Amino acid sequence: MEIREISLIGGCGKTGEREPVARLDMRMGDVVSVVGPTGSGKTMLINDIALFADANTPSRRRVLVNGAPPPAIFQEDPSHNPIALITQHTTFLSDLPVREFLRIHAKIRRAARRESVVEETLAFANELTGEPIIEHAAMTELSGGQTRALLVADAVVIGNSPIILLDEIENAGIDRLRALELLKRYRKIFIFVTHDLRITLLSDYRVVLLRGAMQAVVPRGEEERRVAGRIGLLDSIMVGMRDRLRAGERVVERDLLGELRQALEAPSAEAVR
Ligand SMILES: Nc1ncnc2c1ncn2[C@@H]1O[C@H](COP(=O)(O)OP(=O)(O)O)[C@@H](O)[C@H]1O
Ligand SMILES: [Mg+2]
Repeated sequence: MEIREISLIGGCGKTGEREPVARLDMRMGDVVSVVGPTGSGKTMLINDIALFADANTPSRRRVLVNGAPPPAIFQEDPSHNPIALITQHTTFLSDLPVREFLRIHAKIRRAARRESVVEETLAFANELTGEPIIEHAAMTELSGGQTRALLVADAVVIGNSPIILLDEIENAGIDRLRALELLKRYRKIFIFVTHDLRITLLSDYRVVLLRGAMQAVVPRGEEERRVAGRIGLLDSIMVGMRDRLRAGERVVERDLLGELRQALEAPSAEAVR
């Protein structure tokens, strides 16, 4: 079944009131952020999607695929489940060497081009993490960041999942902006639960949660794309400063002011990544 769209039909928030957003439609190719304070129901929302909720979770939401209730096989057969959910706590339980694990997964998934798909997954994972993955290492020896990077690459390339849900993986040792950039090459629905303002500003729209309820769906404006670029310049100033501190150097106020001035004067086209 080719998925064109998934929809979340609104239910109720934590106190039982109806959600202000009655329906959220996500189309293939959309990059979506889920934002809101801690405890506002972000994890609940993506779990509802991952579970194909049918008014049977505390939020009473329902999921539709291409406008209709999803076929039962999505939940009955893991190899037909179109959704991959990756959280900070997701780990591999296998102690197989990385390459061997990927090869077996590719075989189970009956991936065409089995060998090249394994190569692509490894290369992709290595682009996502700062610490290259040794393909002969056991899966259980990978660091948190390497594990998350491999999970994402595996879900995208070998799993070929059309819908990828990422719950706050930004603190898990992944270069999140690089990840977003790379992920955009694949036509999927990506849903990021995130506290990162650049991820939010680079998403097509954001779902705003409060007290368990979807309050609004805000599309990213053209101007916000430029703002994201400028924030990126600020970010690189901070990264540079952190690197200097790590190298045992002192930081100099005058240098900072110079860098800030430069960032301020950058033409907006340059600020856009
Ligand atoms: N719509 C809802 N109805 C009932 N309980 C909810 C709803 N949304 C969230 N909750 C509950 O509120 C708590 C916090 O939600 P959670 O999704 O973990 O928040 P977040 O991920 O934003 O920190 C959880 O115990 C969750 O089960
Ligand atoms: Mg959460």
